[in-house]
Amino acid sequence: MTHYTSSKQQEEEVDLSSNAFNQNPYPVFSKLRENDPVYRTVMADGQYAWIVTRYEDAVSVLKDNRFIKDPTNLITDEEKRTDRKAEKGVFMNTMLFSDLPDHKRLRGLVQKAFTPRMIEGLRGRIEEITNDLLDGIQQEGKMEIINDFAFPLPIIVICEMLGVPSEDRNQFRSWSNTLVEANNNPEQIQNVQQDLEAFIGYIHQLITKRRKDPQRDLISSLIRAEEEGDQLTEPELYGVVSLLIIAGHETTVNLIGNGILALLEHPDQMEKLKQQPNMMKTAVEEFLRYNGPVEFSTNRWAGETLDFKGKTIPKGELVLVALDSADRDPDQFKDPNVLDVTRQQNRHLAFGKGIHFCLGAPLARLEGGIAFNTLLRRMPDLRLNTDPESLQWRPGMLMRGLKELPVAF
Ligand code: HEM
Repeated sequence: MTHYTSSKQQEEEVDLSSNAFNQNPYPVFSKLRENDPVYRTVMADGQYAWIVTRYEDAVSVLKDNRFIKDPTNLITDEEKRTDRKAEKGVFMNTMLFSDLPDHKRLRGLVQKAFTPRMIEGLRGRIEEITNDLLDGIQQEGKMEIINDFAFPLPIIVICEMLGVPSEDRNQFRSWSNTLVEANNNPEQIQNVQQDLEAFIGYIHQLITKRRKDPQRDLISSLIRAEEEGDQLTEPELYGVVSLLIIAGHETTVNLIGNGILALLEHPDQMEKLKQQPNMMKTAVEEFLRYNGPVEFSTNRWAGETLDFKGKTIPKGELVLVALDSADRDPDQFKDPNVLDVTRQQNRHLAFGKGIHFCLGAPLARLEGGIAFNTLLRRMPDLRLNTDPESLQWRPGMLMRGLKELPVAF
């Protein structure tokens, strides 16, 4: 049976582009999980999208490769040759927007640098960067967590791994921000064309420089893979470098920001963690579940017409998994709206699932753990330095993160 239309009332209640939803999506998620868990809506650009909100359904979509990532796989080779729309933008040439077998090849090229063992080797340096950032602020008695701490930490780390000069950081920060906020929003995509070009121009310069003067960094080893033959094409080289910079910019910052906010809102949990820092492992997982940095998965498309949970999803339509909704599903988590830093049963979806499971998860977990531990140790009387009502969440559906989080200590 095909259910395309939802009631008018439901549509009024579920405006995914509204500011109210952006500030607090959880009441809408709860309603959708209960009343219409595979919900068809119209996005800002006019295309239909299916919003999947229950945990079990989210896992099914993420693990089912019939929900494809590369929309050019929907058309024939002949159409690809003649259709200009089939030309891929820079991010489409990455593992995140590829299906098998390309996905395996593209992920394989960088996987080695992100194994838990390799990442554990960065612990000392990440602690050093964390302490350096706090040294600069400690005397002031206050800071703005996002800009002073949560943003620079992961950026310095990914830039050092890749070999991006640290003095260029601020230059591409705003590009990266606008690109992510414009996701699935055509009006903004027009506006960000300029930023996108500047960003690609920057990557171009960086790669040209490294070609002439290779270093012991990830960009140089990717250039080697590209130059050595059929492992990586030039557009794919641009793609992977851009993807890692963006992923390093836009995600861990929200883990740190959202996690600190959760602790400030739950002083009993903050106290527990201060008393027993060895709880940090479960606490990081709980921050990821409670207010996950990536609110919706990236785009998936029905690779064929699919019957899914009583709905018929036509071939080629967009499917989005609401990760932050799945992680508050009461059928999966006991008391899902309660923050419990000691939670044991916590198979959250903050890093996704299936073949696109986050490559950077070990790095994000390590950075998050070090950031929370160091902050609580050095600034034990951390407190919010603004009216809680004034906190604003960044626009855009993809990410869930605060614009600013002023604290005093
Ligand atoms: C707390 C921080 C992070 C969160 C919550 C997060 C979340 C995610 C999620 C949900 C996906 C899957 C998206 C989908 O299936 O549609 C993903 C994929 C990915 N993430 Fe992360 N991420 C984080 C940090 C990072 C970092 C630090 C890096 C690397 C520097 C990174 C690199 C990637 C890459 C390359 C993919 C694509 C994997 C693939 O397609 O096989 N992530 N991430």
